[in-house]
Amino acid sequence: MLNNLIETLLLEKRKYGLKEKISNKEIKMLKKDFPIQKIIGFVNFDDVYINLKYNVLIPRYETEEVMLESLKYINSNSKVLDLCTGSGYIGLSIKKKINANVTLSDISKDSIKQAKKNSKINKLKVKIIKSNMFENINEKYDLIISNPPYIPNHIKLSKSILKFEPSNALFGGKDGNNFYKIIIQNASKYLKKNGILILEISKDNLEYVKSFGFKIKNDINNKPRIAIKKFNVL
Ligand SMILES: C[S@@+](CC[C@H](N)C(=O)[O-])C[C@H]1O[C@@H](n2cnc3c(N)ncnc32)[C@H](O)[C@@H]1O
Repeated sequence: MLNNLIETLLLEKRKYGLKEKISNKEIKMLKKDFPIQKIIGFVNFDDVYINLKYNVLIPRYETEEVMLESLKYINSNSKVLDLCTGSGYIGLSIKKKINANVTLSDISKDSIKQAKKNSKINKLKVKIIKSNMFENINEKYDLIISNPPYIPNHIKLSKSILKFEPSNALFGGKDGNNFYKIIIQNASKYLKKNGILILEISKDNLEYVKSFGFKIKNDINNKPRIAIKKFNVL
C-alpha cells in the first residue's frame, strides 16, 4: 500500500518536472493519508497553477471536462459566474482560455483566500465574492457554471478525502441534490436572456437534474458528468 502511494507521488513529481525523491516528511504524510496533491501543494491543469495551501477541494480531472464544455457557450464579452468556486480552478481556467468577465464566489473563508492567491499567481483578473450561494450576487450573467457539493450524505468516502478535504465541499444533503435545488430555483434571476447554466453532476444526481430538462453529457469514463440548460428568460 505505502509502496503504491510512493509510486504515485513519484509519478506526480515526474509529471511536474520536480525532483523524483521522497523525503521522510513525505513518507510520514503518506502514512497519515495526505492526498498526493496536498503533499506537492498544487495541481496544474491546462496551464493554470492551482495552489492548495488552504482547506479547499482538490480540483478533479472530471471538472476540467465541465470547464472545457463551457467554453462553447461564451466569448470574451461574456459575463461568467463560477459559483462554489473552491480553489478557483473553473473560473480561472475560463479566464485564461477566454478572456471573459469572470466572477468567482464561495461561502468558505479558505476558498476565498485560496481563489485570491490563485488569481494572483496566475495573473488573472477576476472578481471574487464571499457569498452563501446567491446571497451576495447582484448581477446577471451569460453563463453560470458550478461544481457544488453533490455527494449524498450516506456515501462512504476514503480516509484521505474525509481527513484532508472540507466536508462542506463534498456533501449535498440526504440525496446530494440540496445545492442543485437552490441553483436551479434561482438561476433565472441571475442569468441574462438565453443565459446558460452548466452543472457538474454524478450518477447520483442524474435523475434529479434531468427532471428539470437539462441536456446531459458523459465524461471520458462514460459517466454522467455535465448538465447544460439554456434559460430563455427576459
Ligand atoms: C465540490 S467543491 C467544488 C470546488 C471547485 N468548484 C472545484 O471544482 O474544484 C464545492 C464548493 O462549494 C462551496 N460551498 C459549500 N456550501 C456553499 C454555500 N452555501 N454557498 C457557496 N458555496 C458553498 C464549498 O466551500 C466548496 O468550495
